Amino acid sequence: MTREEAWQLLTTYNKEPFHLRHAITVERVMGWFARELGYGDEADYWSIVGLLHDLDFEGWPEEHCQKSQELMRQAGVDERIIRATASHGWGLCVDIKPEHEMEKVLYATDELTGIIGAAALMRPSKSVSDMELKSLKKKFKDKKFAAGCSRDVIASGAELLGWDLDTLLERTLKAMQSEEEAIEAQAGALSA
Ligand SMILES: [Fe+2]
Repeated sequence: MTREEAWQLLTTYNKEPFHLRHAITVERVMGWFARELGYGDEADYWSIVGLLHDLDFEGWPEEHCQKSQELMRQAGVDERIIRATASHGWGLCVDIKPEHEMEKVLYATDELTGIIGAAALMRPSKSVSDMELKSLKKKFKDKKFAAGCSRDVIASGAELLGWDLDTLLERTLKAMQSEEEAIEAQAGALSA
């Protein structure tokens, strides 16, 4: 599946800039982690999983990670991608446990990118570029901040990866800093 095909599929079922921006953010973060963790030759695949992971969320929030499997099968998407995307709902809406390192990274970073993105919007710069780990840790601990982003899921994601929580926060922040320009170029164009 090419990036273009994945984008076509995504935008068939997702119209809201907020959801498209999240998809693009997770796409970029997944690509960054693939390269960082020594899976550079699979970076496109990791990225497509990131792009499509919430395919059904806009249209079928009650059937999250179930409906997406059906939509992807209809579209002839590779079973590996179907499994990987669904596994980020492990323990919440599906019984598919993240096994591959890529699946664990998706599970661990999905909600965390939400906290980091919300924290960036609070800054005068509106950017992650000048955000320090210390301030991210504060936002993480403040359960009322971006309350919809589950700290429990993020913490259990770190555990699945065998990383301590600070390592996960630090790497994901770095991923978003490295990819911010590319994310803005794409997502900014959508909401303009
Ligand atoms: Fe997500």
